[in-house]
Amino acid sequence: MILITGASGQIGIDLADALVDSLGPDQLLVTDLRMPEKLRPGRKYDVLDVTYMESVEKIIQAHNIHTIYHLAGILSATGERHPELAWNVNVNGVRNILEAAKRYKCRVFWPSSIAVFGPTTPKVNTPQETVTEPGTMYGATKVTGELLCKFHSNHHEIDIRSVRFPGIISYSAPPGGGTTDWAVDMFFQAVEHGSYTCFVTKETRLPMMYMPDAVKSMLDIMDADHKNITVRTSYNIAAFSFSAEELAAAIRKRIPTFTCTYAPDFRQAIADSWPESIDDSRARKDWDWTPEYDLDAMVDDMLLHVRKKLQK
Ligand code: SER
Repeated sequence: MILITGASGQIGIDLADALVDSLGPDQLLVTDLRMPEKLRPGRKYDVLDVTYMESVEKIIQAHNIHTIYHLAGILSATGERHPELAWNVNVNGVRNILEAAKRYKCRVFWPSSIAVFGPTTPKVNTPQETVTEPGTMYGATKVTGELLCKFHSNHHEIDIRSVRFPGIISYSAPPGGGTTDWAVDMFFQAVEHGSYTCFVTKETRLPMMYMPDAVKSMLDIMDADHKNITVRTSYNIAAFSFSAEELAAAIRKRIPTFTCTYAPDFRQAIADSWPESIDDSRARKDWDWTPEYDLDAMVDDMLLHVRKKLQK
């Protein structure tokens, strides 16, 4: 059976749907710190705190888990406010999962982030192998996680695969505590209220990706032939980059009355330390990574679904 941790989070909800679509509900166990309010019929749920090794082992044993999508984690903005929590959940969590994967011979997917990069990293077309000296605690946990993945892959022959996600835009579940959340908030506020106050400046440009492509990347890398995976830290992947002002303009093209103002807060410094665009040629070469959505296709699809969700 396949285990998803952090399954109630932004990525977990959509990944679970995709896995159920392709494998049926019997193959999947979705877990999080708490049971979700709405349970989907036929789906298996359990509660799991990944910071407790005993709980991780118990779940893996009880359900005969062979593959783990370890998505439980604290995002960047929350991590800056609660650095100890970020370290505990992100580092001890991935450590427990990898240790358990070694004992029970599981394959693992774990998401890293563009947050592994920092102010001393080349900002444009950031290469696969480059400086990873992040300024945030979140970034520090992701660099540590990447090194743990590499260590366990090399020393214990565990099959661990990972991508460095850019900001992810989605409508099913809200992101929580991320620096790139403005790109999601902007859609919801535009449809609901016709206006948005953005917490980064209009010039802030970051790499982003639409959720269907994020899900595709996880399924594609896990399907790839073992011998083609030449990066055992984490792969750069990219779809498109835009500034806050460019996203606002793309939304205004579809909702002409939409207005956006800018009131940067503490998240600006985090955004400023991250790359503007990412070189993902290694992922393209090794496991044929290609995104399907460009900016316009993403904006059209997001507005369609956000309107449906908000019944507007
Ligand atoms: N989207 C994440 C965040 O903003 C980055 O991994 O924290």
